[in-house]
Amino acid sequence: MTVLHLRAAGASLVLDARGGVPAIIHWGSDLGDLDETALAALADASVPAIPPSSIDVPLRLSLWSSLADGWSGRQTVEGHRQGVPAPAFRLVELHDQDPIAWVRGESADGSLELTTELELSAEGVLRVRHVLVNRGATAFDLAGLDIALPIPADAAELLDFTGLWAHERQPQRAPLRHGVWSRESRHGRPGHDDAFLLMAGEPGFGFRRGRLWAVHLAWSGDKRLVAERSALGPGTLGGGELLAPGEIRLAPGESYETPWLVAVHSETGIDGLSDRLHPWIRSRSALRLPRPVVLNTWEAVYFDHDLPVLSRLVDAAADAGVERFVLDDGWFTGRRDDKRALGDWYVDPAVWPDGLHPLISRVHAAGMDFGLWVEPEMISPDSVLAREHPSWILGGASGPTWRWQRVLDLGNPDAYAHLRERLAALLTEYPIAFLKWDHNRDLLTPGAAHRQTRALYRLLASLRAEFPHVEIESCASGGARIDLGILDLVDRFWTSDTNDPLDRQRIQRWTSVLIPPEYLGGHLGDATAHVTGRHSALGFRLATALFGSAGIEWNLTTASPPERALIAAWIAEHKRLRPLLHTGTVVRADAADPAFRLHGVVARDRSEAVYALVAVGSPSTALPPPIRFPGLDPNRLYTVRPIGPPPKTVQDTPPAWLAAGEVTLPGRVLAEAGLPCPLLAPEQALLLEVS
Ligand code: DGJ
Repeated sequence: MTVLHLRAAGASLVLDARGGVPAIIHWGSDLGDLDETALAALADASVPAIPPSSIDVPLRLSLWSSLADGWSGRQTVEGHRQGVPAPAFRLVELHDQDPIAWVRGESADGSLELTTELELSAEGVLRVRHVLVNRGATAFDLAGLDIALPIPADAAELLDFTGLWAHERQPQRAPLRHGVWSRESRHGRPGHDDAFLLMAGEPGFGFRRGRLWAVHLAWSGDKRLVAERSALGPGTLGGGELLAPGEIRLAPGESYETPWLVAVHSETGIDGLSDRLHPWIRSRSALRLPRPVVLNTWEAVYFDHDLPVLSRLVDAAADAGVERFVLDDGWFTGRRDDKRALGDWYVDPAVWPDGLHPLISRVHAAGMDFGLWVEPEMISPDSVLAREHPSWILGGASGPTWRWQRVLDLGNPDAYAHLRERLAALLTEYPIAFLKWDHNRDLLTPGAAHRQTRALYRLLASLRAEFPHVEIESCASGGARIDLGILDLVDRFWTSDTNDPLDRQRIQRWTSVLIPPEYLGGHLGDATAHVTGRHSALGFRLATALFGSAGIEWNLTTASPPERALIAAWIAEHKRLRPLLHTGTVVRADAADPAFRLHGVVARDRSEAVYALVAVGSPSTALPPPIRFPGLDPNRLYTVRPIGPPPKTVQDTPPAWLAAGEVTLPGRVLAEAGLPCPLLAPEQALLLEVS
């Protein structure tokens, strides 16, 4: 065996796999081209001192850390066999098939086998997962199987996320002190308060500055992301599935595979993480571009389904340039409000006497494709399905309902088969191009999340195999299920239930650190946001919805003719720009004035870019700091010009470059000196095209 060195795109992972336990020597920036001798020298040289009052061998962070080896921090394998705790593991073999490596270990008595798979992608994204096999003659009860990677002492500040319904992705920072920072989700979905991406970096790290390390768990069920530091050993960053007692009991011969831990290092701040993650996700994805512009009916009509009304909306959408018309909640038997009928997935003859055919024909005649809302994993107590199959309700009728609904037990083979048949029947009868797949409550059933999540993945995969033309959107009361596990099985995320552009600016900014913008639904809502009641200018709403998978969530038939003209022009602009917006590098500037934010997308060859200068409040000084444009080629000459509806300002005259209509300067000047910032009124955005 050997010292393993995975290297790609300026990132390195070094694992001393020469025997005993596999010790992680380095995860971070590239250590260069090291031959076998140099790697052995590095591994030998990195053996630390033995401190007083400690074990009598040097303590190194193992891939399989165990108390029995002297590691008193969090353990890799938590579990027991008939009351006897999990043993330590010893390395048995290593396979290195660049860019993937497997290390296999066994417990001393051979009753457990642990294999860890490590992959460093061409973009420098590290993925790690374990597989535990019970080779013993009795059951092994698994309580946890985590992955932990080392972080250096200067990664002393943490950044992760919390949130609420319609307020997802609120960043929070904290110093990493001695102890465990564990962000746990027990929602049976990541939740609105999902930690999402746990970053540890040099204090004060920003979008464009600081070295940092970050982890995400590619899993849609219960999970934890953990940072740990102690006085005794290296700090770690990692996580794993959160298992309830008794949830995973491995019978002899059975195995458990962890979700992938996705780990990223950046030398250049948070943008450096996105610059690895987005190209990696894009390289693996089969997402069809261009992303169609959507009109979703939810905030337009809610449950009030009526063919003539919806037909007028279809026409208005088509006139504006919309490409996909999505019928939201309210179309199935008895669903007149959110208190009943989930599970009864038959088109309601009372509302749709001729089925959905007349509406879909109208949508197709107008040149759009058709999408339909479903919430397959749920069941209303007040439904035919619940009355006929009460045993299909996960956890039975105990505990509180949530939005008056319960969860369908996908682990029940009959319930699963029925649900699959219903969805397949709808997709067969109707020419449906897109399913908005919702999930509006926590599971609240101890020990069910693993089985339910695996069944969901199986269901999505099997429907995609049978109906490969159907795209799926992951929605969970907005953004409560956005993760890289489900991303392999869906084509879009509903980023949040709020269409309030001010809140959306924050939510989209942070969600897109991990997820490329083309996956993130962003819709133009009503002037008065339905969720917050805040009134926003049309230009601000349009600029906010421009960058992602764009759409409309508004009864366009109530918009005035000038508004409709502006919306049509905006959709045309989005279509012109989306090849750049959905393939380019996402950049954000570190705000020098908290009232202003700058974000943008730069073409991979840096030939062009689009930026949005966003005023989230009033300028705190009369002369705010200049706009500095990140991500451009320093040696290239660019022309900067405003596009879109002009924002409202609080200035007597604009800065000279803006008054002139455009300015041409080298990328270096635009990045370093920048351009004087116009005095935008609060909640306004200025779009700038740079080419
Ligand atoms: C919650 C979703 O997030 C909304 O967009 C909408 O689809 C409703 N559910 C429908 O009940």
